[in-house]
Amino acid sequence: MTVPSIALNTGATIPQVGAGTWPLNDADAADVVATAIEVGYRHIDTATRYGNEAGVGEGIRRSGIAREKLFVTTKLDGQFQGDDRAIGGLHAALGRLGTDYVDLLLIHWPLPQRDAYVSTWRTFEKLHAEGLARAIGVSNFTPAHLERLAAETSIVPAVNQIQISPAIVRLEQRAYDAAHGIVTQSWSPLGGPSGAGSLLASAVLVDIAERLGRTPAQVVLRWHVQNGLVVIPKSSDRTRLAQNLDVFSFELSADDLAAIATLSQGPDAGVDSDVDGH
Ligand code: A2P
Repeated sequence: MTVPSIALNTGATIPQVGAGTWPLNDADAADVVATAIEVGYRHIDTATRYGNEAGVGEGIRRSGIAREKLFVTTKLDGQFQGDDRAIGGLHAALGRLGTDYVDLLLIHWPLPQRDAYVSTWRTFEKLHAEGLARAIGVSNFTPAHLERLAAETSIVPAVNQIQISPAIVRLEQRAYDAAHGIVTQSWSPLGGPSGAGSLLASAVLVDIAERLGRTPAQVVLRWHVQNGLVVIPKSSDRTRLAQNLDVFSFELSADDLAAIATLSQGPDAGVDSDVDGH
């Protein structure tokens, strides 16, 4: 299965579909990552906060695939903000992953009340210059946070990973990212462990899926892909992992997209940026 890649502002590319790993523990992450790579994934998303980087590393080794053929992302959460704490944070993450570099390192949450994301970003710039993080980016950043980085630091984030699904559309963030050459990635693209069941059961998605001979999850992932988003669905099941990668041989029509737009819960839906969540 060929998965298209999207260009980052570093000149590197990122496969448009990756395997999400939250909330897997180490043992499950090792199984899921090895299976994901076997069925064709080349992009794996983890975070120190998930507590499964060692499992992700084990799954990568078990797959037998060469490291340079993979795109691996991790994220550093609040305990690694400020005072160059991200240096130790990334070295520890690399140790757990068993790799010399990550393809993408993200600030997991801006935590604006802490007011340390600008200095953390400067540390990320150093880690990028050393080659330990081939690209650096952010997660859960609003346009206001990105504006501050633009005013006070040198490197434009390669990626902003935010919560997006047909229910949580985040149009303002996506427009800002696009206007500044930042690739938007969707987390919980199917609605997350607690939301996927109801989202995927919605009549709009079921109808489109039946007409196209696809599943509602494939319709949702195709919606992300057709919107130019990079998407990291999580599944622990081999069949669903394969299904979630197979979204490049059909298209949603303008009418389908209009019907899916009715699922939006409005511009302010979704988590805010002050949590230090998963
Ligand atoms: P499972 O791991 O049992 O497949 P998200 O990626 O938005 O965080 O959503 C993850 C949730 O969606 C998990 O509960 C996962 O369950 C479920 N899921 C993943 N892929 C599919 C699919 N193709 N069809 C139905 N549910 C799916």
